[in-house]
Amino acid sequence: MDEVAQHGDMKRRVWLTYNQGVYDITDFVKKHPGGSAIMMGAGGSADPFWDLYAVHKEEHVLKLLEQYRIGNVRPDEVGSHRAGMTDDPWAAEPRRHPALRPSARTPFNAEPPPALLADNFLTPNDLFYVRNHLPVPTVEPATYELEVDGLGVRGLSLSLDQLKKNFKPVTVTATIMCAGNRRSEMSAVKAVRGLSWGHAAVGNATWTGARLSDVLRAAGLEGDAAAPGRHVCFEGLDTDPSNTPYGASVPLEVATDPRRDIILAYEMNGQPLSRDHGFPVRAIVPGVVGARNVKWLGRISVSAEESTSHWQRSDYKGFNPSVDWDTVDFSKAPAIQELPVNSAICWPASGDTVKVKDGTVALKGYAWSGGGRRVVRVDVSADGGATWHEACLTATEPTAPAGRCWSWCLWSGRVPVPAGAQTAQLWVKATDASYNTQPESVKNIWNLRGVLSNAYHRVDVKLKRV
Ligand code: HEM
Repeated sequence: MDEVAQHGDMKRRVWLTYNQGVYDITDFVKKHPGGSAIMMGAGGSADPFWDLYAVHKEEHVLKLLEQYRIGNVRPDEVGSHRAGMTDDPWAAEPRRHPALRPSARTPFNAEPPPALLADNFLTPNDLFYVRNHLPVPTVEPATYELEVDGLGVRGLSLSLDQLKKNFKPVTVTATIMCAGNRRSEMSAVKAVRGLSWGHAAVGNATWTGARLSDVLRAAGLEGDAAAPGRHVCFEGLDTDPSNTPYGASVPLEVATDPRRDIILAYEMNGQPLSRDHGFPVRAIVPGVVGARNVKWLGRISVSAEESTSHWQRSDYKGFNPSVDWDTVDFSKAPAIQELPVNSAICWPASGDTVKVKDGTVALKGYAWSGGGRRVVRVDVSADGGATWHEACLTATEPTAPAGRCWSWCLWSGRVPVPAGAQTAQLWVKATDASYNTQPESVKNIWNLRGVLSNAYHRVDVKLKRV
């Protein structure tokens, strides 16, 4: 371990250990999907960090690591980093609904069964997908303070009570979708690095809280200070071992536009936020990727540049399908903000046997587009796109003003299946108010991190004629 300790930087080459293995990961540092966080393990053991980022304890990561093995830790030194360590960062995790299907347990990342999504316009709180990056912080509501600072504002510190009482509560219905929703369809084409999400990393809820634009005004932001070009950075109270919080930002002109309905939410579907969803306060940025809807909000600061967080600068970005981990340059692509139009079939599921009635089968699902663009049409096909049939939009938000439809729609319909066929592939695609529609194939939108997966959704079913 003394020898390992001498290899803590790029100049002397970067070594780290995991279990009994010693690895020279110098050539991997620049390709690491978790950015410079990898250097926290340099010259020491990755074990305590991987207890925290358990995404690494997956076969594909361990296989990758093995390529860099240069030796072994002396048997009497294996686990020596644990001497005196008693704290389990996951000891205070909340209880979760057993129906949630985890793609990772620590940090907890899970989605509900898809069929359940299509049954509820408002997703029940306990069944709303959870995307955590770090352990869930334990926050005392009585001592909670939200700090507001930065360019053009005077420092403001708000208790939970002040946030609730000093600002008019606003309720918005908004869908939140993870950038990695439907990633597993991308990995089916070619491996990607990321949690293997199905098509239920999305949910719709009413959120109640204070308008961000009101809070920024109370902090004195107006006139030139509110001019475009700046950014509003959100910091969570969830932190990594180096005390760095989760963070993300949105452009200032978006944050100060009351028509964007960004709120600092303390309620979800009329209940106080649960710990997994950001108790006591989270940012709700309607129409924008889940990653910017920062949970356990501790600080809001106005800055001349985007959040410096790994998750703003070196993750949650899209690239063309030919960019790989040797060629990717995260500084060249903009951070994902508004998400593209997307839809999925929630019922039936692939592999199900479905009844054919009058030559048709039933199906249902959700459709949503980012940026407040209403979904205007959902098309389904069971003959490879030879014929398309319009599904019925069964639950929508009818009163949302143009350009401010933040919530998804649920749809259902029946689609004719080819005569005599024993199996069928059901397709869905949605079109939004700007007539953006989904791309046909995953292959041509594939990207190394598996984000923005919005090709036609396809489900293979067996047909039972009655
Ligand atoms: C102490 C050392 C390390 C730390 C603190 C660290 C931290 C991280 C973080 C923060 C992420 C992003 C997780 C997320 O998206 O929420 C990540 C992802 C990843 N890291 Fe590391 N990392 C370390 C070492 C390594 C090493 C040595 C390897 C392999 C040789 C590795 C391979 C990966 C891979 C493949 C991913 C993407 C995983 C996925 O989402 O499937 N990391 N890491």
